[in-house]
Amino acid sequence: MQPIVSIQSLSKVYDSGHQALKTIDLDIHEGEILALLGPNGAGKTTLISIICGIVSASAGSVSVAGHDIVSDYRLTRNLIGLVPQELTLGAFDTVWNTVNFSRGLFGKTPDPAYLEQLLKDLSLWDKRGSELRELSGGMKRRVLIAKALSHEPRILFLDEPTAGVDVELRQDMWKLVRRMNESGVTIILTTHYIEEAEEIADRVGIINQGELLLVDDKQCLMQKLGKKTLQIELKQSIDELPAALEGYNLEHSADGSRLIYAYDTDLERTGITSLLQTLNDVGLSLKDLKTSQSSLEEIFVRLVNSR
Ligand SMILES: Nc1ncnc2c1ncn2[C@@H]1O[C@H](COP(=O)(O)OP(=O)(O)OP(=O)(O)O)[C@@H](O)[C@H]1O
Ligand SMILES: [Mg+2]
Repeated sequence: MQPIVSIQSLSKVYDSGHQALKTIDLDIHEGEILALLGPNGAGKTTLISIICGIVSASAGSVSVAGHDIVSDYRLTRNLIGLVPQELTLGAFDTVWNTVNFSRGLFGKTPDPAYLEQLLKDLSLWDKRGSELRELSGGMKRRVLIAKALSHEPRILFLDEPTAGVDVELRQDMWKLVRRMNESGVTIILTTHYIEEAEEIADRVGIINQGELLLVDDKQCLMQKLGKKTLQIELKQSIDELPAALEGYNLEHSADGSRLIYAYDTDLERTGITSLLQTLNDVGLSLKDLKTSQSSLEEIFVRLVNSR
């Protein structure tokens, strides 16, 4: 099947001389949810901005539904909804007018019933008469989503949609994203959080310093990268690791009070049971146990260092 978005040898050098993207090749499949993960300054917004025609590419090309984004700008832009990273809204317009106007900008005929459902889905219906300046940050973000969806796009870009959004709204937003996706909309979102990508995406792309390091099915990626650590806090500090613990590759904190064990969640045997047994055998008592998932940063360090 033809990809809905095809990015070929795309690069961007800003006027400042900074190279924000280095030869990106990526096909986005119709109907998927793709998460682009990357630290600050990786080039995520630049990539999205080029596809949406806000920033011009320095080299390479992008096609949307088979049409070039430069020569067929209007056509391709109409297929796209964009929720920008920055809150860019007027102050005095009402929610309803903002969303209705946005639909009109894309040349769509008015459809109050569609917009009503959209605002209801985003829990904004009660606020339809409110001026934007009266809304909280989270509500404004929802208005941005409503604007992006006002013209019924086939592809939705969400640039850091959950920045500054509380847990409840985040969950609501993911529900909406899933619903949109089930209705056939292709979704591309950026995030700093691997947990978020893990929760929502079918595929995950990792961007660092303008390079797409990898794009992979989420399951595969988590298998490759999803290391977990177990932090063991000891009742009494130890200066040296007992010999019986040597095989576990434990990290030993400088003050001797903590041991850190990295394990692979996909292995049938994580080794935790036998580690705890061994700790018991050598007479070490535990004060606390904590597990944590490798953070995106750790994954990056590993990825970047392994290149
Ligand atoms: N208009 C611009 N002029 C010059 N440099 C820019 C411009 N916009 C972005 N950059 C630079 O390009 C790089 C990529 O920026 P971009 O906004 O695409 O990153 P990002 O991955 O979206 O980061 P974040 O997670 O912080 O949103 C950064 O080094 C940034 O400083
Ligand atoms: Mg950004």
